[in-house]
Amino acid sequence: MFGRSMAAAAMVCALAMPGTAAAQGSLNVYCSAQVEWCQAVANAFQRETGIRVAMTQKGSGEVLAQIRAEAQNPRGDIWFGGTGDPHLQAAEDNLSAEYRSPNLDQLHPWAQKQAADSRYRTVGIYAGALGFGYNTELIARRNLPAPACWADLLKPGYRNEIQMANPNSSGTAYVMIATLVQLMGEEPAFEFLKGLHRNINAYPRSGTGPIKAVARGETAVSISFVHDAVTERQAGFPVGNATPCEGTGYEIGSMSIIRGTRNERNARRFYDWALTVEAQRIGAETKQFQLPSNRNAPIPEGAPRFENIKLIEYDFAKYGQSAERRRLIERWDREVNALPR
Ligand code: F6P
Repeated sequence: MFGRSMAAAAMVCALAMPGTAAAQGSLNVYCSAQVEWCQAVANAFQRETGIRVAMTQKGSGEVLAQIRAEAQNPRGDIWFGGTGDPHLQAAEDNLSAEYRSPNLDQLHPWAQKQAADSRYRTVGIYAGALGFGYNTELIARRNLPAPACWADLLKPGYRNEIQMANPNSSGTAYVMIATLVQLMGEEPAFEFLKGLHRNINAYPRSGTGPIKAVARGETAVSISFVHDAVTERQAGFPVGNATPCEGTGYEIGSMSIIRGTRNERNARRFYDWALTVEAQRIGAETKQFQLPSNRNAPIPEGAPRFENIKLIEYDFAKYGQSAERRRLIERWDREVNALPR
């Protein structure tokens, strides 16, 4: 399963209320959160509004590529979830529509800032920090220390033991590259990535691929959002997590209306709804542990708290820029991914 798309497509069943659903029209949601969350959000919105929801789950980079390819004839109406940088890139490239939800003022300042930075073409719906996941049984069996710092990942003992996702498809992996560049400076960051490459056994497409591989015991260590490690641990897998001692970056998971949608009214309705406390509770209900953007939405029990993590001042405006994201990913492809292991 390594390197295979975790993408799933699902048409939410409209049988519960066929008359209403038909009357209310439909909504095509591209979703870059975990599929359980995507599905539950689609079901809840459909139940509440009668709008028939079709949902497709894909990585953040993959949805951005799809929206770009479909720009002349958009098929998606709204993009829910996924790391913030590609949403900012979509805003800059005129692929998403401006909208100021009346619910914006219910959100934390970081989520409102994401909206303001994009001139109201995207908005923060959750946040989460980047770190490491590891299989506690596997590292004990192989006599490996649990990683605590970025520098640890270069140790020869981790040869072939680490996974990170591919930044072309995964927003998580791009957050990692942008984090290292901000933490170390660009040249040392690329030297680090080249050294890390020797210890990597696979670059899966999806950002959650590496932590799922850790959970299944297929790799010892992953570079992942730490909230995704909590999901695997709560599902019963022997998974530990840590955030790097030198400091780390984070995501502002975002949502955007796709420009040119034929269902703008329904898209706006979904957008407003997704910012409410009621909708944001669905994350925790489906065992997702990001921090919700609505100030009154409860923080899921067990969610990694930012006050306990050494966070960098991630420059979203810079690293969400179209040219910057493209440049860094191309450089990674050329100078890191192309190297033998
Ligand atoms: O839903 C899990 C998650 O880690 C989100 O927090 C994040 O926005 C998304 O996956 C990123 O997925 P990908 O790296 O595949 O774009």
